Amino acid sequence: MVGSSEENNPNGNPDPNPPSEAAAEAEAEAPPESSIEALARKVQETLSLGGKRHRFWETQPVGQFKDLGDSSLPEGPIEPPTPISEVKPEPYNLPAPYEWTTCDMEDERTCDEVYALLTNNYVEDDENMFRFNYSKDFLQWALRPPGYYRAWHIGVRVKATKKLVAFITGVPARIRVRSDVVRMAEINFLCVHKKLRSKRLAPVMIKEVTRRVHLENVWQAAYTAGVVLPTPITTCRYWHRSLNPKKLIDVGFSRLGARMTMSRTIRLYKLPDSPATPGFRRMELRDVAAVTRLLRDYLAQFAVAPDLDEADVEHWLLPRDDVVDSYLVESPETHEITDFCSFYTLPSSILNNQNYTVLKAAYSYYNVATKTPLLQLTNDALIVAKRKDYDVFNALDVMHNESFLKDLKFGPGDGQLHYYLYNYRLRNPLRPAELGLVLL
Ligand SMILES: CC(C)(COP(=O)(O)OP(=O)(O)OC[C@H]1O[C@@H](n2cnc3c(N)ncnc32)[C@H](O)[C@@H]1OP(=O)(O)O)[C@@H](O)C(=O)NCCC(=O)NCCS
Repeated sequence: MVGSSEENNPNGNPDPNPPSEAAAEAEAEAPPESSIEALARKVQETLSLGGKRHRFWETQPVGQFKDLGDSSLPEGPIEPPTPISEVKPEPYNLPAPYEWTTCDMEDERTCDEVYALLTNNYVEDDENMFRFNYSKDFLQWALRPPGYYRAWHIGVRVKATKKLVAFITGVPARIRVRSDVVRMAEINFLCVHKKLRSKRLAPVMIKEVTRRVHLENVWQAAYTAGVVLPTPITTCRYWHRSLNPKKLIDVGFSRLGARMTMSRTIRLYKLPDSPATPGFRRMELRDVAAVTRLLRDYLAQFAVAPDLDEADVEHWLLPRDDVVDSYLVESPETHEITDFCSFYTLPSSILNNQNYTVLKAAYSYYNVATKTPLLQLTNDALIVAKRKDYDVFNALDVMHNESFLKDLKFGPGDGQLHYYLYNYRLRNPLRPAELGLVLL
C-alpha cells in the first residue's frame, strides 16, 4: 500500500476518531462501503449509543434519519418559499448578556476580532494537537465573493464588554443539484467561544443566519461538518500527502511507519524540483474565460456542483498569495488551455510543541484534466506546493481525486467530512465521487 510507511494523524476534522495503524491500513484496502451502507451503519451506531436525538435539527427542513432510504419522497425543496413579508423581521432572542453584531469584513479591526476568535476557538482535531488558523486575508476572500451580503456575517458580542464570542457566516452561491441550479447560501465558520459551549447558542445562530438568508429570498443552503447531523448528502474523507515528513512526524501529525527510518521516509516523499508538464504555469487574469469554460464543462458531470461564471472564477480561483493558488497547462503549440489545478492555503496552529507553531497545509480545490493525466497534473501541484514550503497537501475523495490518491502517496485521514443541504432533499446519498463541490 502506498503511504503505508506512515499513519497520517490528520488535522482539520472536527470529529476524528484516530484508528489504529492496522485499522487505517485495512480500511484503505477494504472494498469500498457504499455511502448508504456507511450512513446506515453510522445511524445504527448513533442509535445504539443511547438513541441520540437532535433536538434542534429534528425541527428543521433537512432530510431526517427516519426518512433515509424512503425513495417515495420527492427530490427538491422540502419547504416552499414564503413571501418575504412573512419572514420574521426582527432577530432571534439571545440570552440577556449577549447581542447580535453584523461583522463588516472590510473593516480591519473587525477582521482582527474575527481572526482572533477563530484562531483561539475554531475547529481542532480530536486530540487537541492542531487548530485551524485561517488567515485574515483568507477570511476576507472567503467572505466577500461577488454579490456577498454583509448581513450574512453574523457575530455575537458580550453586551458589557463588546467582546466577540461567536460567529457564523453565509455567502451566496449558485449550486446545481442534478439539473436544477439553486440559489443557496454556503454556511461556514460557525464558532462559539470555548467558555460558552453547550448552552444551545449554535441553534440560535443557525436560525438567525437562516432568517437573514430568507430575507434575501434564498431558501437553500450548503454546509459541511465533521459531526453527523440529519442527514449527510455524502460523507467524504480527507487524504494527506506529506511534503515535509520530518516536521509532520516531529509535531505528531504523522508517525514513522513500521520498519521505516526517517531517511527512508524522507526519500519516499521526495519530489522533483520543478513541474514535469510542458506549458504548466500559474493562472493569470487573462485566463479567466478559458478556465471558466474548462470548469463548467468538467463540473457538469457531478450530481452537485457550483454553477460558476467568470466573476466567480475570477474571485475564487485567480491566485492570491497564501490564500488560493491556481495553475494551468497552456499547450506550447496551440496555446489552448487544456488543464487546470488549484489549492487553497489553510494553516493550522500546532498546540503545545516546543519547536513549531504552524503547520502549513495546502487543500486541493478544483482540478480539471482534459489532456494531461490528472495524476501528472496533481503531481505538478505537489511539486509547486513543496517548493512554496507547504508541509502537507490535503485532498478529499471527491470528484476524480480517488484516481490519484494512492499512487501519489496520499494516506487516508482518520476523520470524515459530511456534506449537507438545508431545505433540499436528495433521494439517496451520493458517493463522494459524485460530488463536485469543495467548501472552504
Ligand atoms: C460547533 C459549535 C459552534 C457548537 O456549539 P456548542 O456550544 O458545542 O453546541 P450548542 O449547545 O450551542 O448547540 C448544540 C446543537 O448544535 C448542533 N451542532 C453542533 N455542531 C454543529 C455543526 N458543526 N453544524 C451544525 N450544527 C451543529 C448540535 O448537533 C446540536 O443540535 P441538536 O441537538 O439538534 O443535535 C462549537 O462546538 C464550536 O465552536 N466548535 C469549534 C468550531 C467548530 O467545530 N465549528 C463547526 C465547524 S463545521
